[in-house]
Amino acid sequence: MTYNVVIGRNIRDTEIYGDLATTFIGKQYITMGNLVSLGNNMMLDALRPHVVLIAGKRGSGKSYTMGVIAEGLASLETEVAENITSLIIDTMGIYWTMKSPNYKESKILKGWNEEPKGFKNIKVFIPKGSFDKIKEQNPSMADVPFSISVSDLSSSDWCDIFGFSINDEYGITINKVIEAFVEDGARYDIKDIIDRLTQEIAASDIVKEAVKQRFDAANQWGIFDKEGTPIEDLLAPATINILDISLYSHSLGEFNLRALVIGLLAQKILEIRTLERRSEELEEMESSVSMAGTKAKKEIPIVWLFIDEVHEFLPVGSRTAATAALSRVIKEGRQPGIGLVIATQQPGKLDTDIITQSDIIISQHVTAKLDIDALNTVMQTYMATDIKKYLAELPKLPGACIILDDNSERIYPVQIKPRYTWHGGETPKSVPPPEKPQ
Ligand SMILES: Nc1ncnc2c1ncn2[C@@H]1O[C@H](COP(=O)(O)OP(=O)(O)O)[C@@H](O)[C@H]1O
Ligand SMILES: [Mg+2]
Repeated sequence: MTYNVVIGRNIRDTEIYGDLATTFIGKQYITMGNLVSLGNNMMLDALRPHVVLIAGKRGSGKSYTMGVIAEGLASLETEVAENITSLIIDTMGIYWTMKSPNYKESKILKGWNEEPKGFKNIKVFIPKGSFDKIKEQNPSMADVPFSISVSDLSSSDWCDIFGFSINDEYGITINKVIEAFVEDGARYDIKDIIDRLTQEIAASDIVKEAVKQRFDAANQWGIFDKEGTPIEDLLAPATINILDISLYSHSLGEFNLRALVIGLLAQKILEIRTLERRSEELEEMESSVSMAGTKAKKEIPIVWLFIDEVHEFLPVGSRTAATAALSRVIKEGRQPGIGLVIATQQPGKLDTDIITQSDIIISQHVTAKLDIDALNTVMQTYMATDIKKYLAELPKLPGACIILDDNSERIYPVQIKPRYTWHGGETPKSVPPPEKPQ
């Protein structure tokens, strides 16, 4: 007899909601003597937002599992799905393939009584400077152009991007320009910054030229704009919103533009959901007085933010342009309704606070002592056994993992289910598989 285990759901919610707003992500491994089989359905709670940390070495199935969770959220019953949005920050350009069915694993899916299927509710955002080129290459890869409003960046953001200190002569010059715009109160773009820099600001020609060159380069990246994409556009309900920033991975050297994008988005999502949560609560209070029901549909849905290889943006002992805002979302985001699904190959290189804030940890195969120790820090509060023992007992298959559920203080060995949609980003093989005789 198999039953459903709901990861992340507390007893009270289980009593009230039963299996409503849960999504299937895998099956529990059952070991009897030497036999290992798959038993209970592992469901993920989608009633409330969670911080889900996926850890595992390269190729263990982290990005794939993120895809499984995003598919799961997008497949929920309509009344639940329309109050949820997924935003995948795609640093590798591998998630647009969710529009296509997973034909290459149709046999594996069959073993799970499922079939490949593509998703229609997918929106791929591409930085506006590259949008036309990508769309021409493949219309499926680009749905909506994306840009960041220049007015959203402070002088210290610009210094972070350019690698200046806010206190050196370059930083001071940038600060003068940006302050002048803040005083004006109007929106501006990079061209306006350059004009003001060259005409109005007192600084040496060498400094001005160096700063101008940086802003000229920033203009070429094709992501900054006067207006910028409103955050609501990236949070379409019942949709998997994918922001592809993979183009910025190699070309910019020291300029950590991806961290900046993540930092700005995290901050805006926190702001908009905090406001929304306040009005939701007000409405809940008023309706409990008047006995009228609350609106079932939210204005701004609960956000699930997906960030792969997150140690790049939250390294232990140093900071990036994403650190402040992203840490806040991880620590404070659940109350206003922001969930996170983050993945890393090196949990040991992640700020320990981040690990302890995660209420669901999906650990695929990890071997380095530093990484195992990092995961053990969470476990030790309720588990006497070393995580190594659980990992050693897992089959050596991609998608095999242990799930630690802080809500129930339980640990489960699990096989993550196959994806409905095509998993992008598979490592290339030097030859195709040999044909088998029929
Ligand atoms: N749950 C799963 N079921 C079946 N195959 C999987 C599963 N998870 C991962 N894989 C396989 O493992 C490969 C590597 O997974 P991926 O998520 O890209 O690894 P990484 O941990 O490096 O992000 C995938 O291309 C896929 O073929
Ligand atoms: Mg990966």
